[in-house]
Amino acid sequence: MDGNARINPYLAGNFAPIRSEDDFDLTVEGEIPLGLRGALFRIGPNPQFEPRDANHHWFGGDGMVHGFYVQDGKVSYRNRYVRTPKWELEHQHGRALFGSMGNPMTTDPLAMGNEGGVANTNILWHAGKLLALEEAHQPFEMDVRTLESKGYVRPYKGQVTAHPKIDPKTGEMIWFGYGVGDMPLSAGMSYGVTGADGVVIRRDDFQAPFSAMVHDFMVTEHHVLFPVLPLTGSLQRAMSGLPPFAWEPEKGAYVGVMRRDADVSTIRWFNAPACYVFHPLNSWEEDGKIFSDVMRYDVAPLFPKADGSPGDKAAARLVRWTFDLNGASDAIKEEPLDDLDGEFPRVDPRVETRKHRHGWYAADPANGKTIRQGAIAHLDLKTGKRQLYELTGGDATSEPVFTPRSATAEEGDGWVTAVVYRAGEDRSDLLVFEAQDIAKGPVATAHMPRRVPFGFHGNWVSF
Ligand SMILES: [Fe+2]
Repeated sequence: MDGNARINPYLAGNFAPIRSEDDFDLTVEGEIPLGLRGALFRIGPNPQFEPRDANHHWFGGDGMVHGFYVQDGKVSYRNRYVRTPKWELEHQHGRALFGSMGNPMTTDPLAMGNEGGVANTNILWHAGKLLALEEAHQPFEMDVRTLESKGYVRPYKGQVTAHPKIDPKTGEMIWFGYGVGDMPLSAGMSYGVTGADGVVIRRDDFQAPFSAMVHDFMVTEHHVLFPVLPLTGSLQRAMSGLPPFAWEPEKGAYVGVMRRDADVSTIRWFNAPACYVFHPLNSWEEDGKIFSDVMRYDVAPLFPKADGSPGDKAAARLVRWTFDLNGASDAIKEEPLDDLDGEFPRVDPRVETRKHRHGWYAADPANGKTIRQGAIAHLDLKTGKRQLYELTGGDATSEPVFTPRSATAEEGDGWVTAVVYRAGEDRSDLLVFEAQDIAKGPVATAHMPRRVPFGFHGNWVSF
């Protein structure tokens, strides 16, 4: 600190929270396809009060849901806080009480021992419930129409990832947890399965090679893969005032592979040179091999090194990992799929866990190793052709979300929706694209009267 108050980057620009809960009818330019009916739900961090930590992390803000409801060519918008027990307690006291991401050093004694979940990372539909997810707690249910908070879904215990996978054939939700056990920042993990009816039918615990932030994972028709990459967690480090999570490449990179129906004792740990992945695009299996297309970073972005010094700038690119289940080697084979910096990769949900052809992601056309997302990309992995829609004037997109034209349409036949921040006007728009004609630009744009802060993930729910 230099004596001047440093503005936290996650509280400035379009990272800054908005503090109103609104209902708007949006003005539409172009034509919203009549077949597009339902809602795009997006979620992100939006601290209710000024955070207590000087080094407040983006991941630590209270969840806010933004719903774009589309019907008969019209779009309405509604946003609501996820009213977690943390949100309610702080609301009652009129100020922040919890340290960023559960940091006990900056938590008010008043809040000690209370649940600090923020439900800010992903929002999806499973078993008739709209679930707001954050990886250190359980799923939190929101009303799909009113966005009223309904509370934590309590058949779950312990941590549940914000990135479960839904098997398109069985309707099961496959999930995991990390940091599981009595001690915070432990190497304990869970593997879990929830049936199509919402009943948790399996949860088994195991030990990872070391404690790491495991943000996402991979699932195929018969296998599950747990990436344990060296963005490590350490209670000892945290207690000495250093970062709880930090980049420690010397620990190496591991991916545990297991049959979905097998015991956790059968996990086989494959390895790769140190790297980090927040988000896989999708994974599948074929002829004794597992293939996983992932957005891979050379170093973990957004986190410091173990000595507390700032981490290096990094951007992810799409690569294909191959795991040879019948081979003697535990090494992961890697090949590049793309030469553009990107994040938030998505597939048609109907091919999740099965072989895919199409992928969409937010891209940085300048390859500037930033988290600025100035373009939406579509990649056809059969033809190798990439399409790009570049934004101008500093505008930036959220994760592009695919919606099929109909339940029986071919993979990739449908629309992509994304929320774009208009930097010059400090406002946001909902953009609708033909999914395989991204370069043409949006077929419809719904104008927001104000901005939607940068967030994490979203999903389409058809009504
Ligand atoms: Fe994520």
